[in-house]
Amino acid sequence: MATSILINKIMLPDKKQWKEDFLKSEMFDKLKHISIAIRVATPFQIITWDFDRAGRNFKKPIKVYTPRERHIHQGRLTLSSFYMLDYIVKNTKQYPIIDIGCGMNLFKSIYPIIGLDDDPRADIQGLFDEKFMEAHREEFSAAIAINSLHFIHLNQIQYIIEQLSHIIQPNGLGYITFNMQRLIDVTNEVDPEFIISKKLDSKLNLRKYVFDKVYSICDNLELLYYEDNVDEVDDYVDGNIKIIFKKT
Ligand SMILES: C[S@@+](CC[C@H](N)C(=O)[O-])C[C@H]1O[C@@H](n2cnc3c(N)ncnc32)[C@H](O)[C@@H]1O
Repeated sequence: MATSILINKIMLPDKKQWKEDFLKSEMFDKLKHISIAIRVATPFQIITWDFDRAGRNFKKPIKVYTPRERHIHQGRLTLSSFYMLDYIVKNTKQYPIIDIGCGMNLFKSIYPIIGLDDDPRADIQGLFDEKFMEAHREEFSAAIAINSLHFIHLNQIQYIIEQLSHIIQPNGLGYITFNMQRLIDVTNEVDPEFIISKKLDSKLNLRKYVFDKVYSICDNLELLYYEDNVDEVDDYVDGNIKIIFKKT
């Protein structure tokens, strides 16, 4: 399974070393405690903490709020979002960072983050929409949206990144991820002819289409990092398209 990093203008740490350090950190201890508390209702099983992508291997459906929480119930915690967020947090001067679509608000427990969602565990109850954007123009020095703003048509990719950028201060960072499968699902639902008519039924063309869209985001956004890992199209926890941009 190949991960393609198509743009990389930043220095991310070596994954193996980062993982070793993270597993020894107080942050990880905290996550472990939270995870174990959440899992109290389910039988104990060996916990794996890794970079794994999401996989459809659940034994039974569990009624919880988000895929990440479902994973925790299964005794799994993927590390890739923490790995990316470490970079965002370390390269942001002013806190809090806003987490759009925070779901269970797990990142807040270890990072200086406030979450927006209609989930009861969010700090700000509500949705990211034009009204929110107008009310919070350039308020945050960084904003993240992990698999939360991807319930959109494929042709809205640029639009959503630009919307997110409006709440970020100049020189601030944005981190947004998409699960390619969600984009495909929504596109097919609202516009059944689109994928065929644009010849996006081959993975290569689809990757290229999404990359081109992101690459041509507006002039005041610099694309710092673009990773696509869509050989398996469905990564519903951390996303298989990961984008870091800077508002210039
Ligand atoms: C797949 S979950 C991801 C949760 C979290 N970001 C994480 O990585 O664990 C998607 C979340 O996005 C939220 N969401 C979807 N559209 C949103 C919007 N327009 N504004 C705020 N939250 C949104 C949903 O309520 C849900 O909690």
